[in-house]
Amino acid sequence: MYRVSKPLFGVYVHWPYCLSKCPYCDFFSQAERAINEEEILKGYQRDILFFARLKKSYLPITSVFFGGGTPSLMSPQSVEKVLTTLQDWFAFDEMPEITMEANPDAINLEKMQAFRAAGVNRLSMGIQALNEADLRFLGRRHTVETALMRLEEAKQIFPKVNADFIYARPHQTPDAWKTELTQILNLNLTHYSLYQLTIEENTPFYRKQVTVPDEETARTFYLMTNKMMEKASLPPYEISNYAQEGFQCVHNLTYWRGYDYLGIGPAAHGRLGLTATENPRSVTAWIKQKPMCTQLTRQEKTEEKILMGLRLMQEGFPVSLLNSKGIETAVRFGWGQVKNGLFFPSEEGTLVLNRLILTVLPEERM
Ligand SMILES: C[S@@+](CC[C@H](N)C(=O)[O-])C[C@H]1O[C@@H](n2cnc3c(N)ncnc32)[C@H](O)[C@@H]1O
Ligand code: SF4
Repeated sequence: MYRVSKPLFGVYVHWPYCLSKCPYCDFFSQAERAINEEEILKGYQRDILFFARLKKSYLPITSVFFGGGTPSLMSPQSVEKVLTTLQDWFAFDEMPEITMEANPDAINLEKMQAFRAAGVNRLSMGIQALNEADLRFLGRRHTVETALMRLEEAKQIFPKVNADFIYARPHQTPDAWKTELTQILNLNLTHYSLYQLTIEENTPFYRKQVTVPDEETARTFYLMTNKMMEKASLPPYEISNYAQEGFQCVHNLTYWRGYDYLGIGPAAHGRLGLTATENPRSVTAWIKQKPMCTQLTRQEKTEEKILMGLRLMQEGFPVSLLNSKGIETAVRFGWGQVKNGLFFPSEEGTLVLNRLILTVLPEERM
């Protein structure tokens, strides 16, 4: 099993295309028929070279994450070329986690085998719902049957498989979700990402004024979900992520623990110490432009670490980096507790995460 206690260094590769755009999604992706994959690959290689020359030394790469969009639309040859280019310029850890995000509609058995042969060892499949009506409402093109078939194939091929689901949908009752979550747990995966539906600006759901359950119902959904997942030995290790011990997503832990990562591809972000990197949110602009670097202040970096670190409920965050008066308040409100110099957010705390963060944030130091 991968020991996730070592220092981490990740690489995020963004694929900006999908077969169609889901009405709730604000990720940078477009439905495009005429994809110039060669040009995208050249852009990836240009970004990799840029980062290789930016710093003298890097830790060995512990994870690569092909995210999107729907990166399972990429050709396995391109995936292999990205990985070999990274190997040409960077050292790799002995057991790197290589994740690919996939849509059941944009992958098949042959492609899974080819991705596996190219080096992918973790597949993350967006399923979203296990009933047809909700899949149609969410604008998904696949059926429940296709999703389940792809998942079974993935389990045969990849050592690690995750599935994404969206719950707290309009008109969904906690009881209906309970039944669906029981079916989801019967899929016997080692990792699940379970997100409550959020209405993002600039999406068709926002324009149509789709409404989500009120705060109290959202809370009921969340507490019930955590309880069922814990009972199934898949405790939440992050607000929306549940895993069996040893199956946590190494790449996402890299962000949440505040380690460095490279951002490759359009709209990708990276962090290298106090340097923040950002790529344009447009394929044509990105093709013409290498990553842009800005410097964060120490205060900004600390705030970012707190923002990320408090999402990891099981790990605890050093109280030395937090505001001591704020911690006292948070503990009094039942938002967390202190053990051995670490602050552990409670479920109540994660439900009001933004308020918790504002409470424990240290005062600006000059
Ligand atoms: C990049 S997509 C995953 C892969 C693939 N594109 C797919 O959809 O099958 C990342 C995940 O974010 C979640 N997501 C996106 N927009 C969301 C929203 N508005 N509310 C809740 N979850 C959302 C979905 O579960 C989705 O699978
Ligand atoms: S949820 Fe996935 S498939 Fe749907 S638009 Fe977003 S990235 Fe594309």
